[in-house]
Amino acid sequence: MSDFFPWKDHYATGIPSIDSQHRRLVGLINELFLAMKEGKGNDILGKVLHDLAAYTKTHFAHEEKLFAEHRYPKAAVHIREHQGLVQQVADVSKDLAAGKPVLTLRVMNLLKDWLNTHILGSDQAYAPFLRERGVQ
Ligand SMILES: [Fe+2]
Ligand SMILES: [Fe+2]
Repeated sequence: MSDFFPWKDHYATGIPSIDSQHRRLVGLINELFLAMKEGKGNDILGKVLHDLAAYTKTHFAHEEKLFAEHRYPKAAVHIREHQGLVQQVADVSKDLAAGKPVLTLRVMNLLKDWLNTHILGSDQAYAPFLRERGVQ
């Protein structure tokens, strides 16, 4: 069966640590989609969503540390985009914990579209800058 969110070669930034984290994020969104499609209960969905939220924070912290280390000039706007997603995921988690059926196709598409747009736009925008500085 094809993935809900297939990895595409043009997501690659050429920075190995970033690319492996992005692959894991895409994988977690696929896992969440499967759990939703299989009609898993809110406890299981909550666990997968928790894993996604935690790994998203790890990944954002990694990027933001690189921005600080290399004085990436567009860091502020980029960090605000990260905060926007963290907030959205926190809102979904809260509704889920309250027993609402929130993990709908709409929410899954929102996550997928956010990551797709962010990787292809904002993340690709820093890629040459960090690659030139030898970031792995
Ligand atoms: Fe990223
Ligand atoms: Fe980012």
